[in-house]
Amino acid sequence: MNWILAIVLGYALGSVPFGLLITRIAGAGDLRSIGSGNIGATNVLRTGRKGLAAATLLLDLLKGLAAVLIARHFLPDWVWLAALGAFAGHCFPVWLGFKGGKGVATTAGIALGLAWPVGLIYALTWIGLLLTVRISSVAGMTAAVAAPLAACALGYGEAAGVLGVIAAVVLFQHRENIGRLRAGTEPRIGSSKTS
Ligand code: G3P
Repeated sequence: MNWILAIVLGYALGSVPFGLLITRIAGAGDLRSIGSGNIGATNVLRTGRKGLAAATLLLDLLKGLAAVLIARHFLPDWVWLAALGAFAGHCFPVWLGFKGGKGVATTAGIALGLAWPVGLIYALTWIGLLLTVRISSVAGMTAAVAAPLAACALGYGEAAGVLGVIAAVVLFQHRENIGRLRAGTEPRIGSSKTS
């Protein structure tokens, strides 16, 4: 039954919608009616509250990391399932009618927990593209795809499998962003527009 515990642990942690809660508590409105409508840090940034965005980023990352580390300690055979549970919880939280985030920050935490060198590559890819291309979705999707490839190359088989599944879902979650990228209307960091 430990596998069920791993899923519940991961999902419970991952499904906490920090971006939504933080902006609501701070009186910055309902994130789902702002910008892209996403509950992640990029959209929190569109409220103009950089501190709230940084807090969202950190907490979304930490919940992924916590799911993996707690599972490794108590349910060592089911770490991969806790990781997938955390990611699923973030993207499809029951509390929000299964309409959650796109998983980029949570995946950073998951990758760091599963195999820190892979997490480092993920973070460097993500931050590097954020600073240069300045389009959050491009940075996130590229990092998500780079992670399983890096895990494969470095010999982290289990992490490669988990991150491969996650990368596919991250791309699916970004389908509207991909449409905007194709149309040339995806906003850069710092712009409040989404179309
Ligand atoms: O992490 C989410 C990011 O990749 C895209 O966010 O709000 O621009 O759709 P957003």
